[in-house]
Amino acid sequence: MTRRISLTQYLIEQQRQHGHIPQELRLLIEVVARACKRIAISVNKGALGEVLGTAGSENVQGEVQKKLDIIANEVLIEANEWGGHLAAMASEEMEGIYVVPNRFPQGEYLLMFDPLDGSSNIDVNVSIGTIFSVLKKPEGSAGVSEADFLQPGTQQAAAGYCVYGPQTTLVLTVGDGVVMFTLDREQGSFVLTEDEVKIPEDTKEFAINMSNMRHWDAPMKRYIDECLEGSTGVRGKDFNMRWIASMVADVHRILTRGGVFMYPWDKREPNKAGKLRLMYEANPMAFLVEQAGGAATNARQRIMEMQPTQLHERVAVVLGSKNEVERVTAYHLG
Ligand code: AHG
Ligand code: MN
Ligand code: MN
Repeated sequence: MTRRISLTQYLIEQQRQHGHIPQELRLLIEVVARACKRIAISVNKGALGEVLGTAGSENVQGEVQKKLDIIANEVLIEANEWGGHLAAMASEEMEGIYVVPNRFPQGEYLLMFDPLDGSSNIDVNVSIGTIFSVLKKPEGSAGVSEADFLQPGTQQAAAGYCVYGPQTTLVLTVGDGVVMFTLDREQGSFVLTEDEVKIPEDTKEFAINMSNMRHWDAPMKRYIDECLEGSTGVRGKDFNMRWIASMVADVHRILTRGGVFMYPWDKREPNKAGKLRLMYEANPMAFLVEQAGGAATNARQRIMEMQPTQLHERVAVVLGSKNEVERVTAYHLG
């Protein structure tokens, strides 16, 4: 029988062999994984758990909150606030940061999350997920403030997501490659199922919301036009298209078989850099993608090197197979 390695065992062995996962970070990852298991249970119950539909409120970004957005946010906070590993948390669903209450010990780490990614897919039973990013509180800063979170993605100590699809899969990086764990529902544990995730450098598959094409800028249009020309065009090959509208699920496909994912700037709201959020969507996904040998830019520069100025800052995103990301970026820079 092949040896089954649980998330707990994997993290302990990594800590022992390479010493690169500090104790507090290991605890943090385990707690996030436990929260994701709870969210998975709610997701799976669907209508039977009365978790579908809208909550009747809006988040700070003016988006209608679904019941599951709020449930997932609460589960993540409750699970993480008491363990002593965190100083504060920030979430898509909360305007300001959530400082660990005084009654609990404070740790060194900062946790950011998109508790429920792909909200428009909840009610139609299509894959959704949770995205998270971990930073360390800057040394010497007394207390904790929003400014402590405004660090570039290169500073991430860990990042990952959990996709709630036909399987529940947790994908993780601590800066030493990308690993995947599949939830064994009977045992209640995440089991290592992929330990060296690699994104092929070339691809014939792109993911973009094509209905926005008329709003894009010229370089973006050029790239997609050339893909659509197929084997008789300049690219000399036929492309396939996929768009799930859950970033987690689209990125999961790209980590599994390659591809390029794009959510570009568009003309409708020229002052908005993009739709996706830098701190808890783009940065963690960029970290994972780069660790798997891919690339991630905002169509001009590396996402992970961007200096954030706001917690809920938005960004254009181009990520996935390296050669395609470089091509899209070159078109914009040229
Ligand atoms: P969220 O549900 O957390 O707000 O994120 C949704 C995001 C992302 O997951 C997805 O790629 C994109 O929005 C889909 O946008 P469109 O509906 O414009 O295609
Ligand atoms: Mn999201
Ligand atoms: Mn969300």
